[in-house]
Amino acid sequence: MGERDERIPLTLFRWDNTSGTVTIVFKEVGFSTRKLGSLKVGDEVLNIAGPLGNPSSIEKHGAVVVVGGGVGTAAVFPIAKALKEIGVHITAIIGAKTKNLIILEDEMKEASDELYVSTDDGSKGTKGFVSQVLNMLIERGCRFRIVYAIGPPLMMKAVSDVTRPHGIRTIVSLNPIMVDGMGMCGTCRVSVGGKTKFACVDGPEFDAHEVDFDELNHRMKTYLQEERRKACTGHPQ
Ligand SMILES: Cc1cc2nc3c(=O)[nH]c(=O)nc-3n(C[C@H](O)[C@H](O)[C@H](O)COP(=O)(O)OP(=O)(O)OC[C@H]3O[C@@H](n4cnc5c(N)ncnc54)[C@H](O)[C@@H]3O)c2cc1C
Ligand code: FES
Repeated sequence: MGERDERIPLTLFRWDNTSGTVTIVFKEVGFSTRKLGSLKVGDEVLNIAGPLGNPSSIEKHGAVVVVGGGVGTAAVFPIAKALKEIGVHITAIIGAKTKNLIILEDEMKEASDELYVSTDDGSKGTKGFVSQVLNMLIERGCRFRIVYAIGPPLMMKAVSDVTRPHGIRTIVSLNPIMVDGMGMCGTCRVSVGGKTKFACVDGPEFDAHEVDFDELNHRMKTYLQEERRKACTGHPQ
């Protein structure tokens, strides 16, 4: 944001080529996202780099399910919208811990043919995880060609565990810690199909059934102490 701040990766939620604006949706979890959240109308960020990484493939497949966990719903929205616009049948499943954390329900309704909502505590929609709703639909006999899942690593892993036995192609958008976003620093290293990939330049989308989610989860905690210190004092050391 400022000269001495870090870059953080955020997904474009919407963009408007005519007005030249982009819309982002983000959750305040630490120093940078809180700082971004504290900006007032008219404030500026130093610069925005992007778009970076590879675009989602928007092709006419059979029925598609998009699954959004927490703020991941904002990242899965443009995929659902673009696929629906070309005539793909979209089933959307969005979930969060509790009712107040469900986001973009109206937007997801518009971008899908059917919408299911779940909360871990049952305060809205089905009680349980998005992966359980997906499992229920598959067991009911719904036939899906592709599943896109975006959210916390544990949620993406749970979705991939549901689809694997049914052989349903599943694509996840990985969210490892990123620094340069250019394939040079190696921070966003992930293991996919036993090979090392950099999520910023090789992804962020990968075949879920090939991703080592346990390693991803572990690596995302690498700087937890520094992040906590920075959130409290503004300095990582
Ligand atoms: C390709 C990509 C796209 C993303 N798009 C979005 C988006 O559209 N909206 C959004 O809200 N967030 C998105 N994220 C996550 C976002 O980048 C992080 O939440 C942010 O970098 C945290 O910075 P911070 O300084 O506020 O918190 P930090 O102090 O860095 O971290 C605070 C807490 O958040 C956790 N955290 C750190 N990085 C991530 C991460 N990448 N994902 C999840 N938790 C993390 C830390 O482990 C820690 O517990 C995306 C991440 C990637 C890699
Ligand atoms: S963020 Fe540096 S290599 Fe991907």
